[in-house]
Amino acid sequence: MRVLVVGTGYVGLTTGVALAYLGHQVVCLDIDEKKVSLLRDGMSPIYEPGLPELMTLAKENIRFTTSYEDVDFNTCDVVFIAVGTPSLPDGSCDLSQVKAAAEAIGERLEDHFTVVVNKSTVPIGSGNWVGALVRDAYGGCKGCKPNGMYAVASNPEFLRQGSAVFDTLYPERIVIGAEDARAIDLLTNLYRPLLNQDFPAPAFLPRPEGLSAVPVVTCDLASAEMIKYAANAFLAVKISFANEMAQLTAKVGADITQVTHGMGLDSRIGPRFLQAGIGWGGSCFGKDTSALVATSKEYGITMPIVQAARDVNYRQRTWVVDTLLHELKILKGRTIALLGFAFKPNTDDLRDAPSLDIASHLLRQGARVMATDPVALTNARRFYSELGVTYCDEPLEAIQDADAIVLVTEWPEYRRLKWVEIKPMLNNPLILDGRNFLDREELERLGYRYVGVGR
Ligand SMILES: NC(=O)c1ccc[n+]([C@@H]2O[C@H](COP(=O)([O-])OP(=O)(O)OC[C@H]3O[C@@H](n4cnc5c(N)ncnc54)[C@H](O)[C@@H]3O)[C@@H](O)[C@H]2O)c1
Repeated sequence: MRVLVVGTGYVGLTTGVALAYLGHQVVCLDIDEKKVSLLRDGMSPIYEPGLPELMTLAKENIRFTTSYEDVDFNTCDVVFIAVGTPSLPDGSCDLSQVKAAAEAIGERLEDHFTVVVNKSTVPIGSGNWVGALVRDAYGGCKGCKPNGMYAVASNPEFLRQGSAVFDTLYPERIVIGAEDARAIDLLTNLYRPLLNQDFPAPAFLPRPEGLSAVPVVTCDLASAEMIKYAANAFLAVKISFANEMAQLTAKVGADITQVTHGMGLDSRIGPRFLQAGIGWGGSCFGKDTSALVATSKEYGITMPIVQAARDVNYRQRTWVVDTLLHELKILKGRTIALLGFAFKPNTDDLRDAPSLDIASHLLRQGARVMATDPVALTNARRFYSELGVTYCDEPLEAIQDADAIVLVTEWPEYRRLKWVEIKPMLNNPLILDGRNFLDREELERLGYRYVGVGR
């Protein structure tokens, strides 16, 4: 099929490349000229494991452009809108990128049946709204009423940054919401190789053993939009639940890692997303829970559970600073080393990263902040050079003379650091393990003061 993907961020680019790999003819369009220029040179503008390799395998079937004039809407079967939907200052969702994309698409649709798909995470009701924008733009520029040559669908994305390619090729489900049966048929056909799992798996990313089919959920537009928000809110609640329990386990002398292990063995609960730490970050949980709360207000209801999950999450960040203050008594003039800056391992994304809040709080209290990360420093230097953090390419550079080390991101290489050689480099051998990730026994044996979350 012929596919246009508008927006080539983590979602749009991965989707476009994966569909091209499956044999569809794909055009990826983005207004960011720098991104498109890199993509045309065969380079990925984002750090995402496996993406450059898949781009190489798919290159015959994919093109990149900044212009709608490069797209033949007379043959275009599916148009994905995969632009950003960040938060507005009041917590609601900023739909300006979606609006611009929907209008540009509507103006250009031709008399060829096309499905316009919202892949961006958009508030409930946005499918109807996008339909109206497309219809007005389509009718407006052609001076006619649209004659049923397009339909709108919602196809929310569930990929995780850091394993976006894996999640796209081997998803746990595909959700398609639409009122028009033709749209559901067309998207089901588009995704057929994924649903049947009968495409040749790339050598660098084998198909998980036993995966022979992927479930598809077909529903109405609003339910598809709601599935995405409800899923993210549930995961956010689960993490915050572990973090709330961690605050109490620390007080009563219990160990949250043992508590969540014991809880997670119950198949009704499950072990995933139950790790206590300094909380979630990234481009989704914060903004999606905030948008959900904002939507509920429009309908005159409250969402106390989702709101509490947010409050608990952001409290974890101040807990780090309070704990350092408690341990060191004075933060002014202290050197704090942050191990990891990205919001999670395997990504260079810093959106809503806990590191940013922690660093800002510490700097406000007069501390010196040294930060290191295996892949996120390019973005850190580009977007957060004014923050006042000293960015260090090597962990040992960040750690030198530190009064405390905070493990912010659980990159595996930090577990493999030579902690015995590091201790003499420090002013004070204090480690705050924000992810309960390091080997506590070993560190204590080496003479470190180890503070974890909820233990
Ligand atoms: N990142 C994730 O893990 C993830 C997972 C699931 C869903 N989502 C959702 O998917 C959407 C995209 O997220 P992302 O992380 O890929 O965003 P992103 O910020 O990485 O990418 C968005 C891209 O859209 C481009 N863009 C903006 N306006 C445009 C326009 N009018 N025309 C063409 N391109 C335009 C931007 O230049 C950018 O490259 C969001 O709604 C997000 O909530 C993200």
